[in-house]
Amino acid sequence: MAAAKSFLNKESIREKLENAGVEDIDGAVKELDSMVKKFIRQQEKLAQPQPNEAYESGSPFLEEYPDYEIDRLPGWIKDSLQDARVIGNTKQTVILPNGLKYQLNNTLNHMNGGEWTYFTNSVLNTSYKTSGEDSFAHKIRKIHPTPKPPQLMRDIITFFTKENEIVFDYFMGVGGTLLGAGLCSRRAFGIELNPEYIQAYKMAAREIGCREFECIEGDCLKILTDSSKMKSLLGDEEISLVLLDPPYGNMMSREKTGADIKVYGNVATPFTNSEEDFGNFELALFFEKLKESVEDVLPYVKKRGHVVIFIKDLQPSGKETNLLHAKIVDKLNEIPNLNYKGMKIWADQTAKLFPYGYPFSFVANQIHQYILIFRKEKQ
Ligand SMILES: C[S@@+](CC[C@H](N)C(=O)[O-])C[C@H]1O[C@@H](n2cnc3c(N)ncnc32)[C@H](O)[C@@H]1O
Repeated sequence: MAAAKSFLNKESIREKLENAGVEDIDGAVKELDSMVKKFIRQQEKLAQPQPNEAYESGSPFLEEYPDYEIDRLPGWIKDSLQDARVIGNTKQTVILPNGLKYQLNNTLNHMNGGEWTYFTNSVLNTSYKTSGEDSFAHKIRKIHPTPKPPQLMRDIITFFTKENEIVFDYFMGVGGTLLGAGLCSRRAFGIELNPEYIQAYKMAAREIGCREFECIEGDCLKILTDSSKMKSLLGDEEISLVLLDPPYGNMMSREKTGADIKVYGNVATPFTNSEEDFGNFELALFFEKLKESVEDVLPYVKKRGHVVIFIKDLQPSGKETNLLHAKIVDKLNEIPNLNYKGMKIWADQTAKLFPYGYPFSFVANQIHQYILIFRKEKQ
């Protein structure tokens, strides 16, 4: 390596050292100069591309696994298959020249280790846009009072499925889940009571340029128990992920109070006026019916497939804690072959804050929702 060039202005340093009354000026300048050169050498070394030792030690994937079913690999590995190498004693790690690794024994998803770890953070803070191209056709989807951002759904789907696997949402609304599935090359289908929401989903899919998936209009409880309809949707395939954002008890259909009036007006705004609408059930019935729907869908879910549910708590009232998320965990955990695996909290930092309770009492501005994660354990 060429000698590092010091950019020290020795004359000016000398002058400053003299003014400061330093005795060994030559010695001090020399020491400073050698420190600067050492620092520059370190920086030059860091700026050079580092040889990827792990990659260099690997053997070509295509030589190691000539008969591997390529479709089982993630797209990002398939795209660089000629350069992919295999490392590790058990030959289960595929590595690319850029250092990204994929475990061949990953039974859940197509993520590398870094992406996996990032997703497991229990708190997710987002500020998704609601206008422009990055809003994923929000202007169409906003006919629904609570549309979910497709990017949020995409990130959840990416963790709980592999490419081309099947995602199902039987409270699909204007299609946050279905659009999210389209954004990450998964397949999906949905059920929704309100045909206008299905139409809005289809328009949004066209606007975004996303694949349009099959949707059924009707009551999910009736469709989930109609085996010929389910068979016509699924054929012999199984669902990998049921991703649901159910109406929260009778939250939307109650008369509004306080600052909610500013958002929705002081009239009830149910998703639909149907008696089958989960949003119109009293809470106790809502928990029962939600459990019933999950029991009905489970036979169509693959072993170790997931059921992921969004839920927001209601405000406490007197001795009522109204922790809906805790009640749902307990209720669904009663299902013998379904286990609760944990939660993520989604905080929507774009949510508007209102002076609830001011100036008398604490009332939380709930900008977060719970993402409850369950896994089917047995067939
Ligand atoms: C919270 S919203 C879902 C919003 C959706 N995640 C989105 O991105 O638009 C719940 C939806 O479930 C629908 N719904 C309520 N009861 C239903 C039922 N029994 N069968 C099918 N859909 C139902 C409502 O019409 C509403 O659109």
